[in-house]
Amino acid sequence: MNKHFNLKALATGVSAFLMKLQYNSWARNYDGMFKNCKYSAPEILSETLVRESALPQQKGLRILDVGIGTGLLSEQFKRINPSCHITGIDISQGMLDACKNKSVADEVLQLDFQSSVFPFEDESFDIVASSGVFELLGRPEHVIAEMGRVLKPGGAFSFTTYSDSKLGYLCKFHDPADIDNALEEAGLALRERFRFHAFTEASLLLFLPNPIYYHLNTGVKEVAAIIASDEERAPLRPAYVQDLGGYERHAP
Ligand SMILES: C[S@@+](CC[C@H](N)C(=O)[O-])C[C@H]1O[C@@H](n2cnc3c(N)ncnc32)[C@H](O)[C@@H]1O
Repeated sequence: MNKHFNLKALATGVSAFLMKLQYNSWARNYDGMFKNCKYSAPEILSETLVRESALPQQKGLRILDVGIGTGLLSEQFKRINPSCHITGIDISQGMLDACKNKSVADEVLQLDFQSSVFPFEDESFDIVASSGVFELLGRPEHVIAEMGRVLKPGGAFSFTTYSDSKLGYLCKFHDPADIDNALEEAGLALRERFRFHAFTEASLLLFLPNPIYYHLNTGVKEVAAIIASDEERAPLRPAYVQDLGGYERHAP
């Protein structure tokens, strides 16, 4: 084992430890805190999937919620399509326990998905989604590759992340070009990308004492809805960018 590898492994271990500590301590109050701040990512993301996937109509749809937390995103999925089958993965047992208490997911697994291969077969989910998680990841390309691997051809892939770099101590800004490359490598075609405010202005005051969300609230989040086309490894489609206003068409 060389020195470089050990340092990397150590950094990954420390980051996973901090993440568990942070979210285990937040688990009990997470829903209340985020509700007070009008956290909108789960709603926005599920609305995107209503427009762009079989979510509203397909019976027994299999959904993977990556970083399910207490289940705020999956609650939206069950509201829209009560017959869907939800699998959730998360590093924090505290968040998963809160999720189980609400009976939102059909199954949950504790897992650090940054350093693990997802324990699912290739092409086993119709929808793979993640809200409020990518900005916490040091290596989104690994997670994107795994999300792409377990997604069925023609399925939908959707996630939110930050669109600026004013971040707190657990958060990272990912260059959109790096995200785009990772998506392309995973065989995913970008369908839509737009910006939205993840929290209200007023919530800034509530979160001021917290280093993560102080920074988070000054920013704007970005959501990308990625649809793997029927031809699966098809060239990228034109992207539509919405910046809190109209749509703008970009060349592929
Ligand atoms: C801001 S919460 C979002 C939860 C939920 N998706 C929502 O929108 O409310 C971020 C979640 O990602 C989980 N998480 C962060 N890094 C992770 C990792 N490397 N592996 C697994 N879960 C992780 C945290 O435990 C936490 O539950």
